[in-house]
Amino acid sequence: MKPSLKPNNPNFSSGPCSKRPGYNVSTLDLSTLGRSHRAPIGKAALQAACERTAQLLELPPGYRVGVVPASDTGAMEMAMWSLLGERPVDVFGWESFGLTWVKDITNQLKLDQVTTYSADYGDLPDLSQANPNHDLVFTWNGTTSGVRVPNADWIDAQRTGLTICDATSAVFAMEMPWEKLDVVTFSWQKVLGGEGAHGMLILSPRAVERLENYTPPWPMPKIFRLTSGGKLDEGIFQGSTINTPSMLCVADYLDALDWVESSGGVAQTIAKSQTNLAVLERFVEQHDWIHFLASRPDTRSNTSVCLTLDLTPAQVKQMTTLLNDEGIAYDVGSYRDAPAGLRIWCGATVEKQDLEALMPWLSWAYQQVQEG
Ligand SMILES: Cc1ncc(COP(=O)(O)O)c(C=O)c1O
Repeated sequence: MKPSLKPNNPNFSSGPCSKRPGYNVSTLDLSTLGRSHRAPIGKAALQAACERTAQLLELPPGYRVGVVPASDTGAMEMAMWSLLGERPVDVFGWESFGLTWVKDITNQLKLDQVTTYSADYGDLPDLSQANPNHDLVFTWNGTTSGVRVPNADWIDAQRTGLTICDATSAVFAMEMPWEKLDVVTFSWQKVLGGEGAHGMLILSPRAVERLENYTPPWPMPKIFRLTSGGKLDEGIFQGSTINTPSMLCVADYLDALDWVESSGGVAQTIAKSQTNLAVLERFVEQHDWIHFLASRPDTRSNTSVCLTLDLTPAQVKQMTTLLNDEGIAYDVGSYRDAPAGLRIWCGATVEKQDLEALMPWLSWAYQQVQEG
């Protein structure tokens, strides 16, 4: 039977993700638009973006937060190009994005002391191999396989290397053990439902120390430059961006931070995401034709939830087309490099009732394509 109840909001994409509940573009504070980002009004908005991020995430003292160009990729590339090469690197990749960092480190930066630990979609590499005297590069949540690191127990608190963590689909949705993370990157359009374009770069005091004491042997494009005269360019972390940002995106980000605060802070956005995942977990338990791609329950993402189906890839495509055409769920096909299946965003901008309304439609669409 075709279900009668539809999700109020069919946006389940894994990035850009659904806007927050109640979002209305006309309520943004647009007073910065048309002004210089270096004028006091623009700089104050950018500085607020940095400071309020640090405050909401409860970053330890001395951690810097900056708005940088080119989204999460920009922040990650900037970190890798600025910091790596001083010592051997251990890099962990288990899906498309993590494996991109592996390729960049080996093929672009051409570092020679690199150990790569990789795993197939659904699995995690052996994190216990991480050498505390090496730099570690990894993704907190593999957005394209729905596999996350379960914790940071494998990271040595006494490490001498740096940990560089791409956490774009994790920050604001998962506990981040900041003391064990030296570089964390994320972008606005994931968990917060913000706009694409800008990256967030979080640096620990140890990462700053590396920046001030190590100069990579390769040329550094202006867009990646974090130091000036051998010192950290502190301005980047106080609202003086390297180049011109979109003040509209900044206004949108500040609105998202207001929403996090008014929802009860990051503990609440994490809890909401877990509750959302639980809706899918119940459904998967009750249906034998749908499975988590993540092989272990403790590595299941609570944001980018990836599911496989007992269907051919062509049938999966038919199913996502049906859900799209019915206006039930947009953009829920798995990532192009990942095994065929569904990827349903469960971050805090998605409402539990919408996921609950979606579940019967999955059964309906599955039956439709099975019956051909
Ligand atoms: C884990 C991860 N890293 C990097 C990226 C690239 O992000 P951006 O488009 O913000 O550069 C994504 C995008 O989905 C991602 O999920």
